[in-house]
Amino acid sequence: MCGIIGYIGKQKAVPILIEGLKRLEYRGYDSAGVSIIDGKKIINLKSVGKVAELENKLSDSKEILGTIGIAHTRWATHGKPSDQNSHPHCDCSGKIHLVHNGIIENYLELKSYLLKNGHKFKSETDSEIIVHLIEEFNKKLDFKEAVLEALKKIRGTYGLAIINQDEPEKIIVARLGSPLLLGVGEKEFVIASDASAIIRHTDQVIYLEDGEVAELSLDNYEVNNIKNKKISKKISKLDWSMEQARKSGFPHFMMKEIFEQPETIQIAISGRLVVADGMAKLGGLRDVAEKLRHLEKIVIVSCGTSYYSGLVGEYFLEEYAGIPVEVEYASEFRYRKPLLNERTAVLAISQSGETADTLAAIREAKNKGALTLGIVNTVGSTIARETDAGIYNHAGPEIGVASTKAFTSQVSILLLLTLLVGRQRDMTFVMGKRIASEMAKIPKLIEKIIKKSVEIKRIAKKYIQYKDFLYMGRKYNFPIALEGALKIKEIAYVHAEGYPSGEMKHGPIALIDKDFPSIFIVPKDSVYEKNISGMQEIKARGGKIIAIATVGDKEIKKHADDVIYIPKTLEMLTPLLSVIPLQLFAYHIAVLKKLDVDKPRNLAKSVTVE
Ligand code: G6P
Repeated sequence: MCGIIGYIGKQKAVPILIEGLKRLEYRGYDSAGVSIIDGKKIINLKSVGKVAELENKLSDSKEILGTIGIAHTRWATHGKPSDQNSHPHCDCSGKIHLVHNGIIENYLELKSYLLKNGHKFKSETDSEIIVHLIEEFNKKLDFKEAVLEALKKIRGTYGLAIINQDEPEKIIVARLGSPLLLGVGEKEFVIASDASAIIRHTDQVIYLEDGEVAELSLDNYEVNNIKNKKISKKISKLDWSMEQARKSGFPHFMMKEIFEQPETIQIAISGRLVVADGMAKLGGLRDVAEKLRHLEKIVIVSCGTSYYSGLVGEYFLEEYAGIPVEVEYASEFRYRKPLLNERTAVLAISQSGETADTLAAIREAKNKGALTLGIVNTVGSTIARETDAGIYNHAGPEIGVASTKAFTSQVSILLLLTLLVGRQRDMTFVMGKRIASEMAKIPKLIEKIIKKSVEIKRIAKKYIQYKDFLYMGRKYNFPIALEGALKIKEIAYVHAEGYPSGEMKHGPIALIDKDFPSIFIVPKDSVYEKNISGMQEIKARGGKIIAIATVGDKEIKKHADDVIYIPKTLEMLTPLLSVIPLQLFAYHIAVLKKLDVDKPRNLAKSVTVE
């Protein structure tokens, strides 16, 4: 939610900030703005809409030569998308400018205090109060001390970057609960909400921790805590390349990411899946191996697509590792009274590693003494750092707002976890080896499905006019029905419901008529016949059906209007295959409707507010 970037160095700041904003745009695209120190003044430009609008505005105005600046792309929380509500915000004097990602919970209280002290507000945002608070303290304290004082008064979350006309060779940044990285270049620094905006400049980064404040000048940086005590920080190397964050010839990031899945799954299992031993080796869990052996329960906490991968994991772990699993929406978990103890592992699944609810759930679990684990894609993210142990996806940056490659990578890692825990318990070598050798084939099988993209587009064209869809699957493919429905909702704005096919008779069937098609995930598995009965019931009521079926299943054509075939694999591994046509179907429907696939309306890639 919201992306922030700042630059201080010798190059012109505007192109760097705009390029960075484009990389961060997936975090929100309601409006964008920049503030640049240009000689003795600060130039501020804002625009409602996407970063391209701001870029147009900038190209129409006089060239800005300043080499220090901050910028923001907004996902609106307090106040509608408008120029006034866009960041950067400035104080009454217009000298201090600030960008903010996060939420200030006590902003009304602080605002009334500031109003009483004569401050004038231009926006409806919570963020603007911070800059006025700094201005207020700056009357008596120096700039840095004023920032620290303001931070002490704030309740909530923030990633902040602040510039001040009176101290023009400086950017102050601070973090509490919202991600912030500091890229360290040759006599230049780039700060940003995530690595995608930094990698084109440097692969040397400092991950700021909660409660840390950094002061950047042209050739130096200093990190302090909120009490102004100096903290020494380690410089880490980013493991993302520039190329990974480009579209590489694909029309959209989403398509690139769908097509990358054979590779990202391969990366997830490489060196970890040991086919010969029917085992998995997970280096990130080595230190907690003993605890895993004695676990009584795993609780998976996650949101969105990551929640659905958790549901697949539940089927895996209970059936093959013999361990009870609960999967919880992180947003619900944090407000329940979860029953946890030291023999429970709470496993967070998160692509970004920054989702506020998932992070809060992990913190709650830690408080209650549970072992905390993570399956996280973004290296160095908060969830990755705060969990006791974990496994990285290493799937590279996922830029499309609708998650695709992160999902299949998460499911692959859950499969590895199942092998690891299962083989510690009563999974036999023969079973382990069978699963491992079939898993090793998955990337090649996905390549075959991806080649059907054109065929899936043809089917998408036939269904473009429908406003509602029912997605159905059973057992391992029930979570895939949910994920398929989510994809088409997110990017094509089509109403869709995911349902376990066995539940169809308890409600959804009432919706079925010729205008309400169904998508049945019906591989040749242990529930095949039951799914076929469900399909017949839909057909009998005039409903159209698209079936996702196993190659060689000739029977299926009798029951479906259209069929997309997926290769044969073990029943438990079908979710990794069946989800691909559903990703492509949603993608093609959205493209045919000329929608902005990578940046669907109202959504953000990383939900860092509650
Ligand atoms: C948002 C994104 C989804 C994602 C979910 C969880 O809703 O739009 O694509 O699945 O957050 O994000 P996480 O980064 O924790 O996996």
